[in-house]
Amino acid sequence: MKKLLVFALVAMMALGMVASASAQTYKVGVSIYQFTDNFMTLYRNEIEAYFKTLETDDVKYEITMADGKNDMAEQTNQIQNFITQGMDVIILNLVQTSSADAVIDQVVAAGIPLVLINREPLAYDAEGKTLDEAYEGILNNAQVCYVGADARQSGTFQGEMVAELDNKGDINGDGKVSYIMIEGDPENIDAQYRTEFSVKALTDAGIEVECLDDQVGNWDQTKGQELCANALNIYGDKVEVVFCNNDAMALGAATAIQTAGRKVGEDIYLLGVDALEEAVQLVKDGEMTGTVLNDHVGQSHAAVDVAVKLLNGEEIDNYYWVDYVKVNKAYVDAM
Ligand code: BGC
Repeated sequence: MKKLLVFALVAMMALGMVASASAQTYKVGVSIYQFTDNFMTLYRNEIEAYFKTLETDDVKYEITMADGKNDMAEQTNQIQNFITQGMDVIILNLVQTSSADAVIDQVVAAGIPLVLINREPLAYDAEGKTLDEAYEGILNNAQVCYVGADARQSGTFQGEMVAELDNKGDINGDGKVSYIMIEGDPENIDAQYRTEFSVKALTDAGIEVECLDDQVGNWDQTKGQELCANALNIYGDKVEVVFCNNDAMALGAATAIQTAGRKVGEDIYLLGVDALEEAVQLVKDGEMTGTVLNDHVGQSHAAVDVAVKLLNGEEIDNYYWVDYVKVNKAYVDAM
């Protein structure tokens, strides 16, 4: 019997099933603002998958993935649990960026390195400070950083895709582009910047604009459909462009546009952000004018890479930026 056990153990070691005695397991706490978010689902799956690829016989990563359920109180509890559980590093997609100060204080006080993702803390941006400057004194060794994409770029790309059309978005030839805006969570800087910079790209190109409707769809597909249907009902043919702050809402808007008997590319234009697979398909099929690649692979890998650096005690930057990419018909045809 004993022989059999020894044999089994040797066989398992040979197969690499038993970690070597020196193997180190790092505990990684990840909290995502809301699991049901389409984009953040791709993002969090890629965080897990990428950590797996970095494992060796000697280094393992034990990931605890928590759902913030779009509730800051719930997420604050999760962070406290992470601290109690002695996480080696925390990756955090905040429910509310206005809580960034309090959360960073707690995690820093516990001596745990922190990687913020996807929702850039506003306070520092508004004051023009970097995270490092904001935490001068507390954060001598700079153990906090933000990984994201500059939302101004995504908004600009949306507007440019309209400005680049032959009619510059002015379907009825009345000299102005009449649009509706469907916004994400207004506290989120991605929503604010995309709303502002999509329109700015048009006015910068010398195009006159008219906002028919501007509503909050909270990044949600059903809400996007509802809001777009409503606006089409009220403003009818006047609506030339539908700007959505993300693809989930644009997918909803695409359904509303079809239901209203309108035809993208002929009597209306539709723009989103993220380049979800379903949205790219709609661009291919001509049912969306364009979307913008929000590179969840690049961002999740950057977040994991910097988390690993922090685990290894290496120096880090305070900000890591990943570029957006314009995804229109020409782009998908060349894919
Ligand atoms: C994405 C949205 C997502 C949001 C979550 C944005 O960058 O474009 O799809 O809902 O992040 O914070």
